[in-house]
Amino acid sequence: MCGIIAGIKKGNIVQDLIGCLKKLEYRGYDSAGLACFENNRIERYRSVGRVSELEKIVDTKYSNIGIAHTRWATHGKVNELNAHPHLSIKDGFSVCVIHNGIIENYKELKATLIKYGYSFESQTDSEVLAHLLHLERKKFSSLKEALNSVRKKLIGAYALVAICDKDPNTISGTKSSSSLVLGIDRGSHQYFLSSDPNSLSGISTHIVFIEELELICLNGSEFTIYDENLNKINRDLTKLDFASDKISRGEYASFMQKEIHEQPNAIAMTLENFFDENSLTPILFGNDAPKIFEEVEQIIIIACGTSYHAGLVAKYWIEELAKVHVSVEIASEFRYRKSVLKNKTLMIGISQSGETADTLAALKLARKLGLEWIFGICNVQESTLIRICNLSFITRAGLEIGVASTKAFTTQLASLFVFALTLAKTKNHINTQNERNFLKQLRHLPNAVASILNGEMSVKNWIKYFESKQNVLFLGRGIHYPIAMEGALKLKEISYIHAEAYAAGELKHGPLALIDESMPIIAIAPNDDLVNKLKNNLEEVKARGGRLFIIADQGFELREDSCTKIITLGDHAGFLSPILHVIPLQLLAYHVANSKGNDVDKPRNLAKSVTVE
Ligand code: G6P
Repeated sequence: MCGIIAGIKKGNIVQDLIGCLKKLEYRGYDSAGLACFENNRIERYRSVGRVSELEKIVDTKYSNIGIAHTRWATHGKVNELNAHPHLSIKDGFSVCVIHNGIIENYKELKATLIKYGYSFESQTDSEVLAHLLHLERKKFSSLKEALNSVRKKLIGAYALVAICDKDPNTISGTKSSSSLVLGIDRGSHQYFLSSDPNSLSGISTHIVFIEELELICLNGSEFTIYDENLNKINRDLTKLDFASDKISRGEYASFMQKEIHEQPNAIAMTLENFFDENSLTPILFGNDAPKIFEEVEQIIIIACGTSYHAGLVAKYWIEELAKVHVSVEIASEFRYRKSVLKNKTLMIGISQSGETADTLAALKLARKLGLEWIFGICNVQESTLIRICNLSFITRAGLEIGVASTKAFTTQLASLFVFALTLAKTKNHINTQNERNFLKQLRHLPNAVASILNGEMSVKNWIKYFESKQNVLFLGRGIHYPIAMEGALKLKEISYIHAEAYAAGELKHGPLALIDESMPIIAIAPNDDLVNKLKNNLEEVKARGGRLFIIADQGFELREDSCTKIITLGDHAGFLSPILHVIPLQLLAYHVANSKGNDVDKPRNLAKSVTVE
């Protein structure tokens, strides 16, 4: 999604801004732009497509103050006019803005601004911000005051950063429901504002998260944060511990491939604190966790995309092990539903980024409706999600760049399994022997994942059966039904092949009508209690000429033939089986998309972090 970077330093900042835009690329975007001061005038450069196109245009520019942006289209087509920064030039001075989010009342504001003589060149909601700020700058004596006045007129979500040629050494920013972070390197006298702390690696030693409705001003080599009444506030600096070299593909062809192969290590890191006996203690989820785990009677899991699938798997674990009822809901649905929330409900928000707008809104709504217990599972310690939750668990997958989530998913699953075990232990539903056995299985999990990754070649052998297909059906049962859903999501988002997942028992209620020799069916077939039921479903497919591709465990009884291909993993892994069965599906989606020549890390139209509705 859209990315913001702005900065001020003693030397030339233009290349720093381009470098940061490149670090924001992983979030997904379709155009980019930059504005900077040249001879006290604001100059603006924009281009459609990759940041490298913009880089060519600004290659020789020199400035010590600039703002830059990657745009992911929401209002208006992908073209140069709609790209940020947006500029307002009138009455002898200019204002230039970059914006993340959506201004819901932009039509009303636009109508007013037109009456004041402003003309619009783009179809975006963001352009109103440039003209409105210009109008307010005429009324107020500083950019900061003008921005504060603009803020009060906005409805919607925004992180907004601006420059004005009446205030030549200044950058001002503010935010509401969209992330904005200050990066500081005092030694090098450089200050940045970004929508994503990851982009600040290598150029900042410390960061400060700008809170709701606060205003930040960078001025020369100083920064000042103001509250909504423009009183100065002091904020603690947080040390930034990203190493700049972390954002590299290394020996891999893409970030997604690298991230798939990082899973054994990512899972091991995430579980590091749980490998010892007696390590299942609620306190690892927060100081209030022991009380909450004892008292909780119901759980609601809220998430989007792949994180939602992790929640669906967790429902099976939590209900079976801890005997607590769980409902799992897509955040964008929950936030607009009139739900009934009972006391003693724990709400769990799962999010890789911790910045997904719908997930945050759903959790905030739950809080507003009186829920006190909110638990966040997230891959980013500094995220908004973690800051609004009272219990938390950080997956330690490391930075995930590929839009299609892989290592974040399996580390979420590992964390959710640990949560289910800890809850079960607190509620006396597992004994010491069970606990030891589960911890032993967890210790083995990274190796088990690694050994499936070693079988990558057998997945590659399937590419030819899929690359020319238009449709693929995924089947699973029980806890592997959400894994089938995740497999279908992976395939559709990066290979652009239409893929759907069904609970295999539902086959005869509709999708069986689609089966013929042109329809590949991928079945997730672990050797669990439901395997014989699943086999019956697969026989129904075979009888109708369907082509079966089965991810099985040792001991699976169907044999390969001209219409049936089987990849056999190891022995059935019990509760942890979903974490293993998803690996071949990730690999398959990756290799099919790659062989089609698609950009697997940045699939068309998608964004890594969906920070608007
Ligand atoms: C986007 C990403 C997905 C991700 C989903 C939820 O759609 O492309 O990979 O699963 O957002 O993101 P979150 O950061 O909340 O897990």
